[in-house]
Amino acid sequence: MARSSVHVSYATVPMVIVMTVLCLFLANNVTHARMPVTYYVGGVYGWDPIIPMDTWARGKIFYAGDILEFKYDYLTSNVMVVNRTGYETCIANEGAKEYTSGDARISLPYGLSYYIGTYDASDCSAGLKMAIRAIS
Ligand SMILES: *[C@@H]1O[C@H](CO)[C@@H](O)[C@H](O)[C@H]1NC(C)=O
Repeated sequence: MARSSVHVSYATVPMVIVMTVLCLFLANNVTHARMPVTYYVGGVYGWDPIIPMDTWARGKIFYAGDILEFKYDYLTSNVMVVNRTGYETCIANEGAKEYTSGDARISLPYGLSYYIGTYDASDCSAGLKMAIRAIS
């Protein structure tokens, strides 16, 4: 009995070390996972057709879960999350979601998403539109 319990406890030591190392490794991986990045859409210009918003987005690599922060004057502008038809036609589709607060934080879904400004009919065609593809 005593012998066998001694034997078990010695055998347990390497296992404890393995588990400890494994836990440290996993914890390290978790803490080094990529944190979501917040992007201020349009940079210093904000959500504004002063520059085409697609130009701002070009060349950036977006990940699902990143945050797009749209800053705009809520008296003169809005943000609508539309589908591809809405983006192409500059007319919000049925079911599009509108943001009117002037400061919209939107979490990027995986895949393609489309944003347009529709407060003024000419905004979207002037460049207040953006298509973004987020990877996983
Ligand atoms: C966008 O939504 C409208 C309204 O629901 C729909 O008619 C249209 O086919 C959709 N476009 C796409 C590309 O899914």
